[in-house]
Amino acid sequence: MKGNYYITTPIYYPSAKLHIGHTYCTVATDAMARYKRLQGYNVKFLTGTDEHGQKIEDKAKEAGVTPQKFVDDIVLGEGGVLDLWKLMNISYDRFIRTTDDYHVAAIQKIFKKMYDNGDIYKGKYTGKYCKPCESFWTESQLIDGKCPDCGREVQDAEEEAYFFRLSKYADRIRDLLENTDFLEPRSRVHEMVNNFIKPGLEDLCVSRTSFTWGVPVDFDEGHVVYVWIDALFNYMTALGFCNDKYNDLNEFWPADVHFVGKEIVRFHSIIWPAMLMSLDLPLPKKVYGHGWLLLDGGKMSKSKGNVVDPYILAQRFGVDALRFFLLRSFPFGSDGNFSNELLISTINTDLANDLGNLVSRTVAMAQKYFGEKLPENQLANEEMDAELVGLATGLRDKYEAQMEAYAFQNALAEVFKVISRANKYIDENAPWVLAKSEENHPRLAKVLYNLLETVRICAGLLTPFMPDTAKGIAARLGGAEMGWESLNTFGVLPCDVATVNGAALFPRIDVEKELAALEELSKPKSDIEIEPYTEEKVDFDTFCKNDFRAVKVKDCQNVKKSDKLLQFTLDDGTGTDRQILSGIAKYYKPEELIGKTLVAITNLPPRKMMGKESCGMLISAVHTEKGEEKLHLLMIDDAIPAGAKLC
Ligand code: MSP
Repeated sequence: MKGNYYITTPIYYPSAKLHIGHTYCTVATDAMARYKRLQGYNVKFLTGTDEHGQKIEDKAKEAGVTPQKFVDDIVLGEGGVLDLWKLMNISYDRFIRTTDDYHVAAIQKIFKKMYDNGDIYKGKYTGKYCKPCESFWTESQLIDGKCPDCGREVQDAEEEAYFFRLSKYADRIRDLLENTDFLEPRSRVHEMVNNFIKPGLEDLCVSRTSFTWGVPVDFDEGHVVYVWIDALFNYMTALGFCNDKYNDLNEFWPADVHFVGKEIVRFHSIIWPAMLMSLDLPLPKKVYGHGWLLLDGGKMSKSKGNVVDPYILAQRFGVDALRFFLLRSFPFGSDGNFSNELLISTINTDLANDLGNLVSRTVAMAQKYFGEKLPENQLANEEMDAELVGLATGLRDKYEAQMEAYAFQNALAEVFKVISRANKYIDENAPWVLAKSEENHPRLAKVLYNLLETVRICAGLLTPFMPDTAKGIAARLGGAEMGWESLNTFGVLPCDVATVNGAALFPRIDVEKELAALEELSKPKSDIEIEPYTEEKVDFDTFCKNDFRAVKVKDCQNVKKSDKLLQFTLDDGTGTDRQILSGIAKYYKPEELIGKTLVAITNLPPRKMMGKESCGMLISAVHTEKGEEKLHLLMIDDAIPAGAKLC
């Protein structure tokens, strides 16, 4: 064993299904972890999910389920995070969920430690407050300066909150960034120093009271720990820091590298080391901020509807081809533009033409000319063999230098230079000509041996990227040795190596046809999207408490200064008019509704909106069509008299 190696990937927000952008970082981390294992390190590869925070709480509410059920479905459910990592052949050693009990308890201890040492203190967080909604908002959350929930005026307010003394660590962090290799690539250091450190680091608000889905501050009820504190410490709690669940902190901390996307470099290179400094803990050896996979020049996001589904791509092209494409096509430290065209052309050029052809031609010729095994009787190498043998022998060192710099694209380029050279070597030596005369067979055997040996070295070095393909190639070479120590040595295969034929590793893809098929698949199945069904059951008696009535619109007006609200005067059969305000002005003109019979729930507590009282709520049907939200009021038969109870 060479030693211990600890590598991590960001833990994912299970707020929606993962896309190819998320898959990118995890595949890269997996390739690095497999490479280190190949070299002989004792590797610990951590991944997981970051499950707390307001976003999750809100999404769960929208879906009508508890936050725990919501995250469980995305993490554990069919097609969820665990399924995706299994599909992508991700060889993680440990998976942490921030809702795991041991982690929650550890975060409480960590928070308390920093409170006790004076680096976390109680202060005031200033923001905006909506009194009727009892909600705190930041300036940026407001819509047109008003409460985003009810549209009413908000007022300046203060909330008690805990703060972390980030400012105290500014000089040490700057020194760490500027004078060490802690953060790479170097361009990210300039971003951090110029954008965050030079303008002055302020203390960080590290608790919230406006929602509850988080780790509770156990010594102050109502406060939950800021989700980034909770998330960052996963790297240590997953090794047993402040808990008894695991016990390998001494072996694996400090981490060798955290791979993180560029937008979260700030958290990992400023806040994370500052908190570790506060607790007097060793810092990770490296944070590497990789670039984004872009689509049409922009970031992939669910809201833009441009996310790419890794399940579809893996199913159509194979997991190894997809893994390979991600790391071969884009420089890890910079952004890269994803496209189906690039994916297909990379597979056709590198995998079908270069690697696939080399393997299938070489094995097929060995079988055709010599049967199951190569003859032991082979000539010595000639001058014309030296270049290929030299390149294959020196490949491991060149590859290693690139891998150590996380330059996956360059490491693969080195391997493919040798693969190309080997294909050229076939043409130079024309084995089919040598095969024609018996006396050339010892030379023919040597040529094929050199090719098989080159394939062995290349496939061995491709293992971290395409584990199954490398295994398949090893089997074709009669169970060839592909251990790290064998990959800088030429001549490891026995002379009489037994080869095994197999189907094409990567069949060529018909570009036009495939692009058309992908286009078809990416079309939404239907233009109409409906809300997910609520799984939480409501008992019959509770349901019956809802008083739904037919109401007839006597008058309807726009509410002054509001572009959302309509004010209804309704006949509800009682003889006294009922007033309801409804935020549907975008969908209806008031005059269209006068005289219609609608449905209202009438026993909701009255609510004031824009200073006017609303006694109930009109029932409408909502759905999304071509991405646009649609709403229709429920209108019923005029024969139904106002006030009729609906049950
Ligand atoms: N939960 C935080 C990480 C906490 S780590 C202590 C988070 N989660 S995330 O799910 O939003 O993103 C996880 C990772 O996926 C990030 O590193 C992010 O950069 C990466 N990617 C998400 N979309 C991406 C692309 N389109 N391209 C490349 N990576 C991107 O952030």
